Amino acid sequence: MDAETKMAGRFAGRALPHDSAHLHVTGQASYTDDLAEPSGLLHVAVGMSAVAHAKLRRVDLSEVLDADGVVDICTCDDIRGENNYGPIVHDDPILADGLVHYAGQPVFAVAAQTVDQARKAARLARVDYDELDAILDPLDAVEKGSFVVPSETMVRGDPDNALAGAAHRLQGRTGTGAQDQFYLEGHVSMALPQEDGGMRIYSSTQHPDEVQTLIANATRRSAKDIVVICRRMGGAFGGKESQAALIALIAALMADKTGKPCKLRLDRDVDMLMTGKRHSFVIDYDVGFDDDGRIEGIDLMLASSCGMSADLSGPVNDRAMFHCDNAYFLENVRIVSHRCKTNTVSSTAFRGFGGPQGMFAIEHVIDEIARALGKDPLDVRRVNFYGVDDRNVTHYRQTIEDNVIEDIIDELEASSDYRQRRQAIESFNAKGGVLRRGIALTPVKFGISFTSTILNQAGALVHVYKDGTVRLNHGGTEMGQGLYIKVAQVVADELCIDIENIRTTAADTSKVPNASATAASSGSDMNGRAAQAAARKIKQRMREVAARRFDVSEADVVFADGEVHAGSQTVSFPELVQLAWSDRVSLSATGFYRTPKINYDRATMTGRPFFYFAYGAAVTEVILDTLTGEHRILRVDILHDCGSSLNPAIDMGQVEGGFVQGAGWLTSEEICWNERGELTTHAPSTYKIPVCSDLATDFRAKLLENARNAEETIYRSKAVGEPPFMLGISVFHAIRDAIATVDDPAPALRAPATPESVLRAIAGDPS
Ligand code: MTE
Ligand code: HPA
Ligand code: MOS
Repeated sequence: MDAETKMAGRFAGRALPHDSAHLHVTGQASYTDDLAEPSGLLHVAVGMSAVAHAKLRRVDLSEVLDADGVVDICTCDDIRGENNYGPIVHDDPILADGLVHYAGQPVFAVAAQTVDQARKAARLARVDYDELDAILDPLDAVEKGSFVVPSETMVRGDPDNALAGAAHRLQGRTGTGAQDQFYLEGHVSMALPQEDGGMRIYSSTQHPDEVQTLIANATRRSAKDIVVICRRMGGAFGGKESQAALIALIAALMADKTGKPCKLRLDRDVDMLMTGKRHSFVIDYDVGFDDDGRIEGIDLMLASSCGMSADLSGPVNDRAMFHCDNAYFLENVRIVSHRCKTNTVSSTAFRGFGGPQGMFAIEHVIDEIARALGKDPLDVRRVNFYGVDDRNVTHYRQTIEDNVIEDIIDELEASSDYRQRRQAIESFNAKGGVLRRGIALTPVKFGISFTSTILNQAGALVHVYKDGTVRLNHGGTEMGQGLYIKVAQVVADELCIDIENIRTTAADTSKVPNASATAASSGSDMNGRAAQAAARKIKQRMREVAARRFDVSEADVVFADGEVHAGSQTVSFPELVQLAWSDRVSLSATGFYRTPKINYDRATMTGRPFFYFAYGAAVTEVILDTLTGEHRILRVDILHDCGSSLNPAIDMGQVEGGFVQGAGWLTSEEICWNERGELTTHAPSTYKIPVCSDLATDFRAKLLENARNAEETIYRSKAVGEPPFMLGISVFHAIRDAIATVDDPAPALRAPATPESVLRAIAGDPS
């Protein structure tokens, strides 16, 4: 079978450990901050705005300059090029220019001999502010027409008529909170001036190419002068897609000004204050449905807090609109999306990229319908699922060709004993008492591809050395998700060599140019294919050499298990490499991939934005203490479709980790700004991410067996980075299910379901 369509090779499909696992656990993996520091390195700290919105009347940095160890300072006046790091709209100053738009915004930078000296000096600035009115609430922004990009509307069918004619109708408001990416490695970058105006930047970034472009623009250089390198990140989760550039830019500007290597590492508090989070959403709905709970018409209004600039808010909110259907057919639908400009840090990418918020909206509506009709929410979900041959066109007019949601739900409903457990839970709750149980099964359907078609391209560079070993490079970045091992597995199978003979090198703009961010879960899909293309070029050249040397036809040259058979003769892979080298045949190649079939017209918001969909579902059972509002997750059952997985161990890690992170978003992680627009949750003391002890003791995650991507992705695998995040929605609904047994069958539970929020819901006071 052709390698393109095979299910698994010698390495692809195997549960190999992460290529850096042994380095991670022994502390030997070098992250950006661990790299050897060059002599003369200066450490940079940032002076931030103390207020949410103001004119800068006076910025007096004399004490900063006089402080111990300080070498230089940098303000917007020192920026020779463009003072912007906005990736799409140029509305994002690197250093404030006359105005500040959020508390935490960088106003100036200071370079000193040590980290402590720089950080202490940064606090010595005297800044006088003329404070302006701050908009902190997205609905306030809607009222005042304060948007970072224009509002959008998607319509299909006739929602007004469908709503008017429906047997039942519900209206209401819900919403979701912000969420900090809380990567363990905070933002960090080191910039090293090179000879003749060159600059080398080590940056913890998902998007080295964008860092390169923005530094070129800000320092009046061109791309050829700048090299951006990232070997790995200690987590990113979208937080380093666009905003890593800010940190790299400040380091680079300081290096440019001083001519010295400069490093900027944010401490946790500064990281949380200065850089963007998941968009919080206000969601209004008006839904009409029949006696079975089938949705006939729905009107949704989404208003998200984008913060002070556009950043990635356009595509994030687009993705929210695309995912308002989740796995359900919405025949008559209107979605209005407001991208609200608020005086808070610019909201940015976070795993799911707006998808989770869109899905939360429809899952809430479904749950409301079920509770209004007194039905099991699973039954209402089922009657609304997309069909396979009919009811299979999304509200943006993409025909779903790979629907496996019913298969997944059938299998999971049975394997999790959903119905029996529902009954057991009902008997448990019927006894009354302080402890209540709840259960929920929620599906996920997530679109794979960057919604901006242009970004769906990737490149790779493969070198084969004379000893037969391989250095592999591609435009993708490693953030813990296991991209590097997956792509190495592909190259090992393409060249039919042992994976030990392959070393993947740091993402590097001088090796692969113009790479998209590693994002949209498309890293292994795209870089796997690009690396495959490069490896195939080299293999074909080697095949020609073997055919010539051994006088056989090319078809009689067979690569297998580190050897090459040419008719009756066999040589080792390194031996054939030697022959190719002595024949003066190139053993280095680039590979390129562009995702096929996709097309999307942003003007009409229709087309095929996604190459395919990833599916999964989760059942969560919780027990809730109705006096304290605390819950425990008792059991989780997950069934997730990774197609023909490139690496089931890595993919399982993504499924489990994604679920937990999604559960954190909707339970314990609460981002708060006070009435002055100051972030009051900027450290783990006030912001609680899930820990191991929050995990269900009974956690049963499974990858869908015998699965295969309907599209010709790399070895028929499916992207897995983001989709499982949304499995966490089941936790929220299980909690709501438990609360519903106390008093109100449809309690107004606000996300995140912290103990306070749960107690308010029980008390019937959702405010
Ligand atoms: N997994 C780990 N361990 N660390 C991360 O930062 N980021 C997630 C996901 N899984 C992340 C992760 C996000 S937001 C995305 S888009 C994908 O990984 C990106 O990688 P991929 O495209 O290679 O899956
Ligand atoms: N997903 C993630 N990141 C992105 C996207 C997307 O669809 N578009 C631009 N950046
Ligand atoms: Mo992921 S939010 O697309 O970086």
